Amino acid sequence: MREMQLHNDIARVLFSEEQLARRVAEMGKDIMRDYAHVEGGIVLLSVLRGAALFMADLARAIDLPLEMDYLAVSSYGNAAKSSGDVHLQKDVSSPIAGKHVIVAEDILDSGLTLSRVIDLLRERKPASVEVATLLRKQRPDQADVACKYVGFECPDEFIVGYGLDYAQRYRNLPYIGVLKPELIS
Ligand code: IMP
Ligand code: MG
Repeated sequence: MREMQLHNDIARVLFSEEQLARRVAEMGKDIMRDYAHVEGGIVLLSVLRGAALFMADLARAIDLPLEMDYLAVSSYGNAAKSSGDVHLQKDVSSPIAGKHVIVAEDILDSGLTLSRVIDLLRERKPASVEVATLLRKQRPDQADVACKYVGFECPDEFIVGYGLDYAQRYRNLPYIGVLKPELIS
């Protein structure tokens, strides 16, 4: 058996499995406090695929009735950078009108994808839309996206793990780390 195959590609660990678990539990408590008395129902929504792991853990940290739903988008244009020209590949499965939507996002980078997704969701007249992002990259040119819940601020480096991929790999790493630069082509 080849051990630590994925781990060998990581330059350094940014957030350990324990840190992630602790922070996600806190975010769940914050959400419970804010949504305990809302009417109309809560929908936890994730944008596939990166946020799926975070949402699965966040959902289990929220002891309130809620729906889980998913949408998938693709951004056209330059593949390395998001263009903000977002195309809906998969829509939500149930209507969100009148409901309190919490968008679970893995990482806010340029912010362009998320700001388009929020515009799109608002057209459906939900009772509210808020964002819970596990990570927010520190970059000065980030689009102005109001994130009510932020797990961690992180440096402007390419990171993988806990849902985040490089060329569709490393999503299953249990922690978040910086990929060795020589592996990025
Ligand atoms: P944005 O529109 O630039 O904010 O794009 C955000 C999306 O790009 C995230 O939901 C991730 O899927 C992806 N992304 C941004 N930065 C990273 C990174 O460092 N590693 C892996 N994926 C990333
Ligand atoms: Mg994503």
